[in-house]
Amino acid sequence: MRKTILTGDRPTGKLHLGHYTGSLRNRVALQNQDKYNMFIMIADQQALTDNAKNPKKIIDSLLEVTMDYISVGLDPAKTNLFIQSQIPELAELTVYYLNLVTVARLQRNPTVKSEIQQKGFGESIPAGFFVYPVSQVADITAFKADLVPVGNDQKPMIEQAREVVRSFNNIYGEVLVEPEGMYPEGIEGRLPGLDGKAKMSKSLGNAIYLSDEADVVQKKVMSMFTDPNHIRVEDPGCVENNAVFTYLDAFCKDKAALEEMKAHYRRGGLGDVKVKRYLNDILQAELEPIRARRKELEKNKDYLYEVLRKGSDNARAVAAQTLSEVRDAMGIEYFKGMKF
Ligand code: TRP
Repeated sequence: MRKTILTGDRPTGKLHLGHYTGSLRNRVALQNQDKYNMFIMIADQQALTDNAKNPKKIIDSLLEVTMDYISVGLDPAKTNLFIQSQIPELAELTVYYLNLVTVARLQRNPTVKSEIQQKGFGESIPAGFFVYPVSQVADITAFKADLVPVGNDQKPMIEQAREVVRSFNNIYGEVLVEPEGMYPEGIEGRLPGLDGKAKMSKSLGNAIYLSDEADVVQKKVMSMFTDPNHIRVEDPGCVENNAVFTYLDAFCKDKAALEEMKAHYRRGGLGDVKVKRYLNDILQAELEPIRARRKELEKNKDYLYEVLRKGSDNARAVAAQTLSEVRDAMGIEYFKGMKF
């Protein structure tokens, strides 16, 4: 039987190179193996858990993210692209799963813990935000996903999903599929920002977006953090913790040339500007076709709308089937021939 893959993103802005190396590239590769049922969800409901007062940001991002998806090579004919809020079955599953999770367990989730800190909720944590890992279990199980490719920060979510599935199946019978996470390895999963900070992120303002114009990409590359002690060209430079080389590790296909360049940089005699120009050329080559496809899509909103509508219809049919099995197993299908 074909395995099912489900994953998704919160639509809180355009996607950047960190998303590209950490997940998008891999999703396209999985899709093109033609051996999985692929679902990719735009998690607008999850994004609303901490943006309730600013829905416009989320709604505006829906099409941005969809354009990013299709322009990197996700093909709506092969991969079901859909919008979370259009599948009300997910919310109903969440309600049942909430009974299988304790408040103490939710409080222990390290990713939620650090997000609460980062977002500065203090004592005012939205309850919906606090329980989003449970709604994420609904996202995954509604499609009986076997595999969930996600970033390393999502490990605790997959762990919780597995616990809920085991608990549900134990109590009500084997209905749900226990998912497995797939995580990026090495540098792919943690592309630093332009400033060399641990993570590329919109909020840190250190990202290159897939939709950035060529001159913007170039400007950003030329401003990148390198080795602060590599002052004169003749000075020996450090390749480790040097964002320019980290990006080259993630994007340069000619590994022999890259090794040579690293050796030269370490020895001294290779200036930052040269390395940055080399990186810029590589990034432009990778981003140019993506940008061109995106420009076409921008002119074709009707097409995007149809993709999302069809994808959401398909997804809803699958989720409805699972929900019906769940209700059956729980014995709450009162009006479908079940006795009180
Ligand atoms: N939490 C994920 C993120 O922030 C998005 C997401 C929502 C997701 N539901 C999901 C990922 C289900 C995988 C499976 O990136």
